[in-house]
Amino acid sequence: MILPIIMAGGSGSRLWPLSRQQFPKQFLTLLGNHSMLQTTANRLQGIAHSPALVICNEEHRFSVAEQFRLKNINNSGIILEPVGRNTAPAIALAAMLAVQDGDDPILLVLAADHVIKNESAFCETVKQAVSLAEQNKLVTFGIVPTSPETGYGYIQRGDILANEFGFNVAHFVEKPNLSTAQDYIATGQYYWNSGMFLFKASAYLQELALHSPDIFSACEAAMTNTTHDADFIRIDNSAFEACPDDSIDYAVMEKTRHAVVVPMDCGWSDVGSWTALWEIEDKDEYGNVFKGDVIGINTQNTYVNATEKLVTVIGLDDVVVVETKDAILIAKQSEVQQVKQVVEQLKSEN
Ligand code: GDD
Ligand code: MG
Repeated sequence: MILPIIMAGGSGSRLWPLSRQQFPKQFLTLLGNHSMLQTTANRLQGIAHSPALVICNEEHRFSVAEQFRLKNINNSGIILEPVGRNTAPAIALAAMLAVQDGDDPILLVLAADHVIKNESAFCETVKQAVSLAEQNKLVTFGIVPTSPETGYGYIQRGDILANEFGFNVAHFVEKPNLSTAQDYIATGQYYWNSGMFLFKASAYLQELALHSPDIFSACEAAMTNTTHDADFIRIDNSAFEACPDDSIDYAVMEKTRHAVVVPMDCGWSDVGSWTALWEIEDKDEYGNVFKGDVIGINTQNTYVNATEKLVTVIGLDDVVVVETKDAILIAKQSEVQQVKQVVEQLKSEN
């Protein structure tokens, strides 16, 4: 049985000013007419045996529930975290809940804020990986890298597996520095970690207990006292607050000896910047993406998103403009990552 787990607790500061702490990236409708969270839940039809179990911050509970309700999408429950302790504990809570009744489902762990253009290729790749998860492997999905991005995990492939769909993981390195990432890419042996995983709940818990026992025991304590109201699953907040903060990538994937990588070619993007979104959108003949009420004259390779007012741009090349009710971003495409610094500055001023 496959139980999808959607991690929806991120704060996604890189798409500011549309993405806000109260309304982060996973709730935005960036492409089409579904939000990223709704699209993530919908793309599981055909591979999952039950609706997704969602895990998010308590402060976002109504947004999450509303997003499922509005599009008539089912879920298997929404686990509420009182504070974000990153993905290793979040997945642990979901895995512990999944094994509570003596079951041991295969968890398909997904980020709520990724774009996948080719859904059938995605579903096929996940199906190929199921037999590996059944053999207690921790499956990662590898994306062929196109640039030395430092915000990703890097996976070096080892020996090819008997099923020929995947490889043992020789080396997993989370967020290397630029020169290391460049060296990895030059070898031709590395994939980007997509941030999606497939493993038995018990296999993850076993590796977590081995490599990050403090996280394991804090989550175990947090799960001894759960209450359910409607779809919401509440845990023991003070036990969870005491949990160390770490991602699955550092806490488990860099250390485990049971990781395998299955290459995935499905038009994946984690939409890590406005420029990344501009890249995957359909453009006009001048390379522009204009959303909302926009007039562009003599403008090329520019992304304009107007949510409240008419925005006009003249004579711009390689620029991002995002207009919202209370904030406007105007940035060079090449420097748009620095929006994170704006968010940091705003946080420190508040
Ligand atoms: N419930 C919950 N609680 N979800 C969380 C938390 C948390 O504390 N922290 C993050 N998430 C969710 C985010 O909303 C996102 O959907 C997912 O977990 C991954 O977290 P990110 O913070 O976006 O991770 P990242 O992008 O820095 O790195 C991960 O993804 C990369 C690919 O996009 C890693 O797995 C990298 O190795 C990978 O390359
Ligand atoms: Mg991410």
